[in-house]
Amino acid sequence: MTGQDWVPPIVDTSAPSGARTYDYLLGGSHNFAADRAMADQVESAVPGIRAAARINRAFLARAVRFMIGQGVRQFLDVGSGIQHGDPACRVVYVDRDPIAVAHSELMLTGNENAAVVEADMREPESILDHPTTRRLLNFDEPVGLLFLLVLHWIPDDAGPAALVARYRAALSPASHLAITHMTDDLQTDKITAVADVVGRSRGAGQVFPRTRTEIADLFGDFAVLPPGLVPTGAWRPGGIGDIAEDPEMNELSFAGVARKP
Ligand SMILES: C[S@@+](CC[C@H](N)C(=O)[O-])C[C@H]1O[C@@H](n2cnc3c(N)ncnc32)[C@H](O)[C@@H]1O
Repeated sequence: MTGQDWVPPIVDTSAPSGARTYDYLLGGSHNFAADRAMADQVESAVPGIRAAARINRAFLARAVRFMIGQGVRQFLDVGSGIQHGDPACRVVYVDRDPIAVAHSELMLTGNENAAVVEADMREPESILDHPTTRRLLNFDEPVGLLFLLVLHWIPDDAGPAALVARYRAALSPASHLAITHMTDDLQTDKITAVADVVGRSRGAGQVFPRTRTEIADLFGDFAVLPPGLVPTGAWRPGGIGDIAEDPEMNELSFAGVARKP
């Protein structure tokens, strides 16, 4: 480890990462100059985009509370990013970003109910069959599966719907699936500008925004619960921080929660 004990030595901090750029947009401190430079470019392209990141985190909190209300007591959070809070239920966080994983490990030290797995979501079995996952989650009981702002990193030719189907198949009835996903349906110019900045960056990869119909397909045969697949700020908003002041910032992604029959 370096002087900052959340930075594994293998990490190239000179190239931006999606996890750390998002952390910076959320006001976090687990990021480097390259991440901040990319975030600044994204913000120049789409002023106010920090609000979109914040309402995604607010959706996360609402979706988890909602699922707990439906009886879910265990969660699999895929592409969990850099943690900003303490879990109260049994939770397995998954990320491929070594900094997100190292920081989550620090945050979860001493927590018997939660752990982080470093894995790539494109290999579902490496996550679903991981000893840590099997130790914490009981797949005979409902699981809350979260894919928040992560599936747009999967290109069409890698089959995102088939990929999510492999996770859905592992869950018992009454399990829930929450998804937020960047969309180019509503604020097309803004999302195209974000995708261009990310695509031009060194190391951050590429994002693939999708239409509402394509995002709806990711839920498969799960029943999408009211209010349906809606702009993220419009999913059961309960308070002032749930909706961005600039209405356009509520419309960069769709959000939905569905239940396995
Ligand atoms: C924008 S952040 C979202 C974090 C969190 N889910 C949220 O909504 O606040 C996307 C996260 O997905 C992770 N990620 C991207 N592609 C991944 C993959 N193939 N496997 C696992 N994690 C991935 C990134 O490292 C990053 O931490």
